[in-house]
Amino acid sequence: MGTERAGNYVKQLYGELAYKAFIPKALPPEPAIRFDSKLINILSKADQRIGRLTGVLKSIPNPELFVAMYVKKEAVLSSQIEGTQASLSDVLEKEEDVLSGKDDDDVKVTLNYIDALNHGLNRIEELPLSLRLIREIHKILLTNVRGKHREPGEFRKSQNWIGPKGCTLSNAAFVPPPVFEMKEALGCFEKYLHAEKTYPILIECGLIHSQFETIHPFLDGNGRIGRLLITFLLCANNVISKPLLYLSYYFKKNKLEYYNKLMAVRNSGNWEEWLEFFLRGIAETSDNVVELSNKIIDLQKRTTDSIHNSMPRYSNKAIQLLEKMYIYPVFSVNKAKELCGISYNAAKGIIKKFVDLNIITEKTDKKRNRKYLFNRYIDLLNEGTELE
Ligand SMILES: Nc1ncnc2c1ncn2[C@@H]1O[C@H](COP(=O)(O)OP(=O)(O)OP(=O)(O)O)[C@@H](O)[C@H]1O
Ligand SMILES: [Mg+2]
Repeated sequence: MGTERAGNYVKQLYGELAYKAFIPKALPPEPAIRFDSKLINILSKADQRIGRLTGVLKSIPNPELFVAMYVKKEAVLSSQIEGTQASLSDVLEKEEDVLSGKDDDDVKVTLNYIDALNHGLNRIEELPLSLRLIREIHKILLTNVRGKHREPGEFRKSQNWIGPKGCTLSNAAFVPPPVFEMKEALGCFEKYLHAEKTYPILIECGLIHSQFETIHPFLDGNGRIGRLLITFLLCANNVISKPLLYLSYYFKKNKLEYYNKLMAVRNSGNWEEWLEFFLRGIAETSDNVVELSNKIIDLQKRTTDSIHNSMPRYSNKAIQLLEKMYIYPVFSVNKAKELCGISYNAAKGIIKKFVDLNIITEKTDKKRNRKYLFNRYIDLLNEGTELE
């Protein structure tokens, strides 16, 4: 396999300090990826599971309903890896306050991730993925939150290093390329993004994510941007029709293995094991989304039936509110009024009936703001986002 397949460690002098930084080689790997039976099998499984996911999404009556929510879930998970202390419920309950100016850094970090993701998805419809777009997304991710002094939207102008909190350049787990070599590596990276692809796109996603983490071109946010890149590549190459496949939960659950496999690419050129780990994540995550979609379809059916049976007189407006609840599962009477374009009293009436039918539950906070929660739905989405 050879230790220089992904790049080399090169001694650097910084004043008195000597350390070794990693200078990555441009993609694609040389010698080429070795497709042994293990890698072929997992690639084929990942393909097949994504196919199944595409099929299930076609049977959801209105997939947009939960894409917006699923994006929130992803934002929560990806930001948690970074150390952000906000759960999905925190984000749902505090979102409006934060949007209207209230300080809550953890929620803001997560909301920025949603904006960055949506911005990227819109842009890749017109533009190919480029370094410029990556910087644009980084800027949105880090604006007005901790880390904002860490140059949002700019590639780093100094040496950085990776490792446990408080580690230094000399005892870091990994030292990415110095600035000059970083710029060269980024140039090659962009060329590779635009080039005709050598490998099946799932393999390419794995190569590109790992290479980006190795270059580590920002002072902060490299993990989140690298995870967003996977989604953009999957969507831009029509592997998935909706942005519903995210590896953050898998990376969070297998964090040590994730870091080790990345390190093994750098240290021993072991691209194949990293790719196996990555593809296992794609297959496992597709299965999770299929399972969740089926549970949501089932919940939707049961709730709709219960509305038709118990409140036939209001069912049109009630169904309308129910549909909105998939995007706003935490809401007030005023919000329901606005979402459905009905009077305050009508909204209140439907909400009361929903509470009686156990479709939603009431929650009143210290300021006596009464909110309603679509708990069964939130619980389904919550899995994996609870804070430890
Ligand atoms: N010990 C390690 N070994 C290998 N790679 C690591 C290690 N620690 C961090 N990384 C890589 O660096 C990324 C973190 O970089 P950075 O802090 O710039 O990004 P972030 O988005 O703020 O954080 P995170 O990825 O933790 O959410 C990780 O996602 C991982 O890819
Ligand atoms: Mg960070």
